[in-house]
Amino acid sequence: MSNQEIIERIEKLKKEKNAVILAHFYQIPVIQDIADFIGDSLNLAEKAKNTDADLILFCGVHFMGETAKILNPNKKVIIPDLEAGCSLADSCPAKDFAEFKKQYPDHITISYINCSAEIKTLSDIICTSGNALELVNSLPKYQKIIFAPDKNLGGYLNRITGRDMVLWNGTCEVHELLTAEYVLIKKKENPDYILIAHPECNDAVLQLADFIGSTSAMINFVKNNEHKKFLVATETGIVHQLKKDNPEKDFIVVTQNESCSCNDCRYMKLNTLEKVLYSLENEVYEINLDEKLIQEAKKPIIRMLDLSRELGIIK
Ligand code: 13P
Ligand code: SF4
Repeated sequence: MSNQEIIERIEKLKKEKNAVILAHFYQIPVIQDIADFIGDSLNLAEKAKNTDADLILFCGVHFMGETAKILNPNKKVIIPDLEAGCSLADSCPAKDFAEFKKQYPDHITISYINCSAEIKTLSDIICTSGNALELVNSLPKYQKIIFAPDKNLGGYLNRITGRDMVLWNGTCEVHELLTAEYVLIKKKENPDYILIAHPECNDAVLQLADFIGSTSAMINFVKNNEHKKFLVATETGIVHQLKKDNPEKDFIVVTQNESCSCNDCRYMKLNTLEKVLYSLENEVYEINLDEKLIQEAKKPIIRMLDLSRELGIIK
């Protein structure tokens, strides 16, 4: 089947099954283009919560499908590939984290949404890169906090808020690999480019950035900026939307070195158009979670959404 035929089949099935396709900006371009909604983790969580579709096909990674199921447990949530995990989520096993928490009984826990449902049950508030700074700032200065699982996002928040949150030692394998050395080479070669970076990058890269934000925030920054040339420090998938919005602007993705394609998230890139069709046709692979797990994991996510609304980050 040609791509066009697959797309037509997907469109037909979507109508027949009253399905919605949600996709993250790191998905391959053709998946971003067939999605009903594309966004960052915060926008996608909101959409998953409020959709009236009967079937949610989530093109992203496993924790995103889980979040959709937790927020809308009466819907059937499916993902195209069960192997689409996340190194950051994997870097924080629930058993180890529960032990770690015992050392800090007077701390509350803020966890980045890139974590398992079990970690969410061990958290007081969930955040995304789209609201982390505002959520942390909304808490009183004396409040002691554990931040998990991303030490880069946590370290960045500590640096700009002046806090001393206790950090879990986890990272995203994609962003962690990007190097300040290579960014500096690219900056030197392209002096008229400005650097936009995702806060999952390591601190040396973030220190060089002109703008730091979630995928949506980076996309909005570029759209609303007069500047025409950008170095991009995040996963490659974002360039599709950047180019769509700004055909006249130029983007160079910075990597670890000249020869690597390390900005392709091997999990995000597992999803293909063929798998999306198979998934929709057969209503696989379903995210199933224990009722109690859903109830417990939901509390800190709802807290995040409520706080984000109060703080004017979402409507
Ligand atoms: P955001 O799109 O929320 O910035 O998240 C990036 C990410 O790491 C998704 O895996
Ligand atoms: Fe996880 Fe990093 Fe891939 Fe996002 S880009 S899904 S954080 S491994």
